[in-house]
Amino acid sequence: MSQPLLVAKEIHKSYQDQDGGAPLEVLRGVNLEVAQSTVTAIVGSSGSGKSTLLHILGGLDKPDSGDVFWNNTNMASLKEDKLAEFRNRNMGFVFQFHHLLPEFTALENICMPALISGESFSKASKRATDLLTRFGIEKRKNHRPTQLSGGEQQRVSMARALMNRPQLILADEPTGNLDDENTELILDMLFELRDRDGVSILLITHEESIAGRSDRILEIKNGVIS
Ligand SMILES: Nc1ncnc2c1ncn2[C@@H]1O[C@H](COP(=O)(O)OP(=O)(O)O)[C@@H](O)[C@H]1O
Ligand SMILES: [Mg+2]
Repeated sequence: MSQPLLVAKEIHKSYQDQDGGAPLEVLRGVNLEVAQSTVTAIVGSSGSGKSTLLHILGGLDKPDSGDVFWNNTNMASLKEDKLAEFRNRNMGFVFQFHHLLPEFTALENICMPALISGESFSKASKRATDLLTRFGIEKRKNHRPTQLSGGEQQRVSMARALMNRPQLILADEPTGNLDDENTELILDMLFELRDRDGVSILLITHEESIAGRSDRILEIKNGVIS
């Protein structure tokens, strides 16, 4: 076995109660490993802490205690700007609601992670155009998010997540807002990333059919993955 891409050890996270009540303990010592080139599904009831965990694993939020290691780098050792750079280079994020920038076209949205890492627009737009073609939406490249269907918006956000050729995709209910046909399409794309590009995918989902296709299913319950 090659070494895991991501390792989380004893992750704890609580949220303070605004009214001065007891804090809400969401994560109570989560341990997990994400192997290279695998699809891992995270399941659990609503409010069980799935999104909280995904944000922590992706370095978008910090745990109260515990550590997240990327290869052998402890993410807590990175200062804020290094962490942002690291995230932008190694990870792609897909959310339930696409979070595309409304004032930019599909092409510009997809280019964004590359532009942030200092690439020229001409170079970035060439790769973004390849991604648009791969996802069958090349005719939509100059449309803004509001001019796209839900399925198209989600394909654009997948393309954006892939722009910097990340090793890990973190997806929070990426098909939660889509009809069956688009759900299948987005899933096929995710599984193809594993098979064709060797990408690892950590996927939060409610849907059993999705979890069933994954290499591994982890359930969060009472703040832990057992
Ligand atoms: N920023 C926050 N402040 C306070 N409570 C929060 C915050 N984010 C999430 N929570 C609470 O933490 C719990 C877990 O939330 P979340 O991780 O979003 O669960 P899931 O994604 O499994 O539905 C929920 O009870 C939620 O209300
Ligand atoms: Mg959630």
